[in-house]
Amino acid sequence: MASSCETVWRDARLLTMRDGRFGLIEDGVIACRARKILYAGPANRAPKFEAEKIVSCDGRLITPGLIDPHTHLIFGGSRAHEFELRRAGKSYREIAEAGGGIWSTVCATREASDAALLKSALVRLDSLIAEGVTTIEVKSGYGLSLEQELRLLRLGRQLEQERNVKISTTLLAAHVVPYEYKADPDRYVSLICDEIIPAAVTAGLVDAVDVFCESIAFSLAQSEMIFRRAREVGLPVKVHAEQLTTGHGAALAARFGALSADHLEYLDESGIQAMAANHTVATLLPGAFYFLRETQVPPVEALRKAGIPIALATDCNPGTSPLSSLLTVLNLAAVLFRMSAEECIAGVTCHAARALGLQDSHGSLEEGKVCDLAIWNVSNPAELVYNLGLNPLHTRVRAGHE
Ligand code: NIG
Ligand code: FE
Repeated sequence: MASSCETVWRDARLLTMRDGRFGLIEDGVIACRARKILYAGPANRAPKFEAEKIVSCDGRLITPGLIDPHTHLIFGGSRAHEFELRRAGKSYREIAEAGGGIWSTVCATREASDAALLKSALVRLDSLIAEGVTTIEVKSGYGLSLEQELRLLRLGRQLEQERNVKISTTLLAAHVVPYEYKADPDRYVSLICDEIIPAAVTAGLVDAVDVFCESIAFSLAQSEMIFRRAREVGLPVKVHAEQLTTGHGAALAARFGALSADHLEYLDESGIQAMAANHTVATLLPGAFYFLRETQVPPVEALRKAGIPIALATDCNPGTSPLSSLLTVLNLAAVLFRMSAEECIAGVTCHAARALGLQDSHGSLEEGKVCDLAIWNVSNPAELVYNLGLNPLHTRVRAGHE
């Protein structure tokens, strides 16, 4: 008897992306029922389907819908003037220490209305969606007070109502010490632990907790307090670490079972060992590397050797990576970090899902997973990585719907 389903895509080449491999299926079929993949595999082994709709893909390539696992999508203002200062020779650190950097975006964000923040975030979101992105992580971190951080998380969740996309929200109250607490940063850490984290949980607005663990942001001891609190309330943690120095934030977060440690240009062997032991994903951000003219490449070969999954993300933010194109990230990772096409595509599918704790439901073309697809006007996977500024997306499918 034929199984009934809503849609069948046939005559497609499938990149299944299970366990980080292409898993190419030449003559593939995908069937979707109730938002999920009922079948993804070769045509000659497919059961008979009675579908409401049959789509012929004319040999096009289908990948899982892309996942951007690290963004700061919601913010006010622009930092184009800082871009100019940096061109003239000032460093990211110097600008931050002079009151610019993250803090200047905090001021602009606090002043902006909900409507204005949503409007500008939607422009960036639409750019990602246009390239086949179906899941996006969105961090708070430009509010830095109880009220403002919750507002940013709420706006993050609201994006799911505005567009057909899955949003994962991360609390990054520990982005930088706000001006009001400069004299007593530990008091701000207490505010995060005692008020902001519990309130975000009670409001049901948060999927993970992140800390910028760096000399210009939060110390190891402060980061540890925040990770401890997050674990107490049952939230997974993530970290911005080893971006400017070897601060050992990645190892610390890994010991708290972090989903991911992100940036990692200055990661050392002890950090790699801790990440491997705790199954922490390495999320690399080649946009920030490029934009800051960083020269220290993250230890990609050592990560490979340790068997650590590598995810890739835009890090879309106004200061270090004003980038709303995940396809560009693939090219940057291939050119600057010498990652293979297979590694790049795994970085924005299965490994990106793992970086968000979504590996059981997203990131590969497998039975039972959410039917998020990107159908491309290419037949060779390397084309997705090789081209710059060309968008070969044919159709995006989110939870079974185009
Ligand atoms: O991921 N490192 C901290 N956070 C951002 C920068 C944010 C900003 O400069 O506004 C990052 O690079
Ligand atoms: Fe970031």
